[in-house]
Amino acid sequence: KYINDDDVSQECQNLIFSLLSEKDFTGKKPLQLPRILVLSQHTPTRDSDIILASLPKSGTTWLKALAFAVVHRNKYAPNLESHPLLSDNPHNLVRFLELDLYVKNQCPGLEELPSPRIFATHMPFQTLHESLRDSPCKVVYVCRDIKDVLVSRWHFRSKLVSNYSLEDIIDEYIKGVCFFGPFQEQVLSYWKESLVNSNPVLFMRYEEMIENPDAQVIRLADFLGCSFSEEEKQSGMVEKILELCSFGNLSNLETNKTGTSVCGVAPHAFFRKGGVGDWKNHLTDDMARKLDEMVKKKLEGSGLKF
Ligand code: A3P
Repeated sequence: KYINDDDVSQECQNLIFSLLSEKDFTGKKPLQLPRILVLSQHTPTRDSDIILASLPKSGTTWLKALAFAVVHRNKYAPNLESHPLLSDNPHNLVRFLELDLYVKNQCPGLEELPSPRIFATHMPFQTLHESLRDSPCKVVYVCRDIKDVLVSRWHFRSKLVSNYSLEDIIDEYIKGVCFFGPFQEQVLSYWKESLVNSNPVLFMRYEEMIENPDAQVIRLADFLGCSFSEEEKQSGMVEKILELCSFGNLSNLETNKTGTSVCGVAPHAFFRKGGVGDWKNHLTDDMARKLDEMVKKKLEGSGLKF
């Protein structure tokens, strides 16, 4: 079933907005809440569904590309000249549940999509529909150091919003009033589920993907139930997928440089620098310490460390 704007009555939207006290950097109250409420009741589930979850700027685009290439490698060999990733942005191949399917309402019928369907979400685990939480469908979560997330997000937003300072965004992340935040609550929600055997959540880290991409993509394929065979490994399948999905390759494709906007955003905006530790070029020691201390305090006792 398509999810329509009508699913959240105007009355309900007014009530939600009146209850929210904080405004975001645009001076508006967040729009995501009504969508999240609708999605929590309509999350599509099929046992073979795959959900890629993340906070914005944590490596979502990369994870979408990798998961698509890994899952569909028998249909589309990574060195195929007509591989979909060469002509389409990863965000068009793996759609966001709450940003595309609900807002634009122009996806083909979910039921007609062939299995395995791959979706993405920025929503915290607890807001996903119960049927999804209890189903055997697979959830992959990618997280990244909050300081790199914040700097990446700041670059992304400051192109759209004037006078948006680093101090502004730090204040938002510390208060937890950030896009799909608070950071630590979102990360923790998936971390805790990944520790429970009955819930299939794979917890990945951007930094580990950068440091040891081969091992991480093998781990991803194992988790998704489509492990690489010895023959595939010998033939360089893992390396070909990594090359196809690499920052250098994707960011230089015409479709990602000048293609039409995705989720209302120019496709090149999803590719900035790529890598670990760019925060050092932007944040003062004091800013970094403040963020690290906040995260450390919130994650205390969870076993999760950054
Ligand atoms: P930087 O702004 O630090 O460069 P998301 O996809 O969640 O919005 O995250 C965007 C971040 O991932 C950006 O980080 C972007 O450059 C980086 N990124 C995008 N594609 C990538 C890829 N194929 N490999 C590594 N990093 C990638």
